[in-house]
Amino acid sequence: MVLPSSLLMLALSPLLAQAALFPKSSKVKMLDAKGFKKAMEINGTSLVAFVAPWCGHCQRMVPEYSKAAESLHPLIPAYAVDCDEESNKRLCSEQGVKGFPTVKLFPRGKHLAPMPYEGERTASGFFKYASLRVPNGPDKIMKTADIKPWIAKHKQADRALLLTKDSKVPLLWKVLASKYHGKLRFGTHRDDKGLASAEVGLELGEGKGSKVLIYSTGSKDPVLYEGKTKLAELTKFFDSILDGSADLKPSKKEQTTDSGAPKDEL
Ligand SMILES: *[C@@H]1O[C@H](CO)[C@@H](O)[C@H](O)[C@H]1NC(C)=O
Repeated sequence: MVLPSSLLMLALSPLLAQAALFPKSSKVKMLDAKGFKKAMEINGTSLVAFVAPWCGHCQRMVPEYSKAAESLHPLIPAYAVDCDEESNKRLCSEQGVKGFPTVKLFPRGKHLAPMPYEGERTASGFFKYASLRVPNGPDKIMKTADIKPWIAKHKQADRALLLTKDSKVPLLWKVLASKYHGKLRFGTHRDDKGLASAEVGLELGEGKGSKVLIYSTGSKDPVLYEGKTKLAELTKFFDSILDGSADLKPSKKEQTTDSGAPKDEL
């Protein structure tokens, strides 16, 4: 007997529903074997969950993992691989997946050994695990008096210094330091009282936001970055420093920064 197509759809729909563990709106990107290989070519930090749609622990992890993916986006991508798919079985076995879910952090794609996640499967657990393991972070300059020596010490390189009010190093800065490791020198200083601007000779006033200062190779005079402090804009800017197209003239301007920055801003 031939089923009308609408009946066939009805008969198949539970299967279709089960296949999509993560909703379309989720920031979690499903990878097949080819996509995984491509993602691992990138020399950056990512999180991968190896899952099976029928597994209860996986289903319960979905909202937490999705929430973590949302907070990490766009700095650290969160992926998932459906190990129930025939075409992914080899990948999952190569990755030593023995139970579901298996979550691993890849600090530098295939270029560094992955770190299995064994903590509680909560959004904050995933977020902390990933954000604390981004390799090659910025130099932390604790004291204002240590800024000048840091600038002098690394004068053979282009340096990017973040002055932030934040008590933690912003994830965006960690990710950028990691990305440009060996090419640009990254530093960070908590300038909660606004003293560091004066220390480096910039009349910046009581700016509310963070400041990104660039010291080009050999120079001790900072250039204030005036673009958006977001991943895409800063990446473009640092790339332009590396290819020599950036306009780096020391400036002494007042800066006004918007407060209430979205999460990937500094
Ligand atoms: C990945 O980046 C790190 C840090 O910059 C570097 O040491 C390493 O050589 C890079 N690996 C590849 C394969 O590009």
